[in-house]
Amino acid sequence: MSLLAVPVCVVTTRTDGENRGLTASTVTGVSLDPPLVSVAVARSSSCHGALTRAPQFVINVLGDDQRHLATRFSTRDIDRFAGEGVSTLPGTELPVITDAHALYRCTLRQVVPVGDHDLLIGELTDVRLRPEARPLTWYRRAFHRPEQHG
Ligand SMILES: Cc1cc2nc3c(=O)[nH]c(=O)nc-3n(C[C@H](O)[C@H](O)[C@H](O)COP(=O)(O)O)c2cc1C
Repeated sequence: MSLLAVPVCVVTTRTDGENRGLTASTVTGVSLDPPLVSVAVARSSSCHGALTRAPQFVINVLGDDQRHLATRFSTRDIDRFAGEGVSTLPGTELPVITDAHALYRCTLRQVVPVGDHDLLIGELTDVRLRPEARPLTWYRRAFHRPEQHG
């Protein structure tokens, strides 16, 4: 699928008093009414248990100035939440990426097994946008910044 250009997101949650998150490019909208999005999470991921248990998660769509966060959130055996670039969604305990291009807060509705991944289906409950940013994209196994955007 290396020729499929996709957005780069960080999916975050908090469960059992711990922040968890991973870089994910499999995010897509799947329904308008109700508003549902999906993300495929590898069953082998260290975040899989938390993301399938937590009642809520956040899809943070990264801006093109945030590729270091995409790298940090796909690196094993580090504290991904240490350092700049992470904050808390006001009024919640949910960790989020500060100044993400878009934030989609979701309530987990379904977990669908698909091969070696689980598809998380979430219902959008809150949307925060930074429309002036440009989205970071993943194409040919590398990060790219779009040259034009509407
Ligand atoms: C651009 C990019 C997109 C990724 N997309 C996904 C994805 O959609 N689902 C997934 O489970 N892992 C995805 N990964 C891999 C995870 O971010 C990473 O392998 C994983 O977090 C490794 O650590 P973990 O086992 O602690 O989760 C992606 C990695 C990169 C760099």
